[in-house]
Amino acid sequence: MKEQLEKIYAAASADLEKASSINDLEEIRAKYLSRKGEFNEIKKNLKNLSNEDKRIVGSLANEITKKLESALKDKHDEFYKKELNEKLQKERIDITLPGKYIPQGKVHPLTSTTNEIVAIFQSLGFSVVPSEQSPEVETEYYNFDMLNVPKDHPARDVQDTFYTEIAKNVVLRSQTSGAQIHAMEGKNPPIRVVAPGRVYRNENINARKNNFFHQIEGLYVDKNITFGDLKGVLNEFIRIYFGSSRPTRFRNSFFPFTEPSAEIDVQCIMCEGKGCRTCSGTGWLEILGAGMVDPNVLKGVGIDPDVYSGFAFGMGVERLAMLKYAVDDIRLFFNNDEKFLKQF
Ligand code: PHE
Repeated sequence: MKEQLEKIYAAASADLEKASSINDLEEIRAKYLSRKGEFNEIKKNLKNLSNEDKRIVGSLANEITKKLESALKDKHDEFYKKELNEKLQKERIDITLPGKYIPQGKVHPLTSTTNEIVAIFQSLGFSVVPSEQSPEVETEYYNFDMLNVPKDHPARDVQDTFYTEIAKNVVLRSQTSGAQIHAMEGKNPPIRVVAPGRVYRNENINARKNNFFHQIEGLYVDKNITFGDLKGVLNEFIRIYFGSSRPTRFRNSFFPFTEPSAEIDVQCIMCEGKGCRTCSGTGWLEILGAGMVDPNVLKGVGIDPDVYSGFAFGMGVERLAMLKYAVDDIRLFFNNDEKFLKQF
């Protein structure tokens, strides 16, 4: 039996020599040291021996299994380290590599310009009319009638209004001024709001004009509002929006819903007033119309013009964006050319 033990030990040692992974070691342990392993088989036969032999063979068996176990443990430690190192090498990541580029959408320049303008007026105490309270598809009642534009007045043609087939009097709004009526109807002054939105006009398209564009309407109605307030607010807006001094001019003008009326021009940024394609040779770009709310308009919505007065304005978002970012053609805003949009 002693020889048998020596033989098994030699075989186990040879197997151990050949082992190359933790898996191999598990197999060796199962083959020799488990309950059904070869050493146990021998130990089972110990009972047939004399007491003296039992002691000798038994202690030899114990000694050999201990040796084998410690050899297995050493190998295990060695393989474990080796396999861990290989894994670490294989799964190594270079944290200095640049990350994956995930393209990110950007806010359209007209949206950011609108947000910027609205924020300026908010800082001056105006609140924003939600879009559902100033619809793009509008009745003539709000787009013209209530704004003091007589039925047969050429102003209805001047703005080249798009009429719809929904009903005879339903139009795509030609101006955001209808929002003034929505803002005043059923309400009491003070009213101090801005209403941004899209408007439509059947125009010949060129560098300055598109058949739809964006406006921001403003309205301030309270006691003792004067033309001085109008000038103060709009000059302050221009100062904040353009930052440094940009030549501007007030011109008198006419709108059926304001009296007196004015327009503000800003010097063309492309030619600095010399005259070019963008400003069609005039050196100026009109950015807004404004005026004192006509008493007839106030009366129409049930506000007493003897007690209250107000001013209103409507500015062109595209024009303001062109003047700030030196965009020489309004059509660039609508072509959605990435080369253009990426610059903002
Ligand atoms: N609605 C006018 C336009 O589109 C601008 C305007 C608004 C003028 C408010 C006066 C007061 O031309």
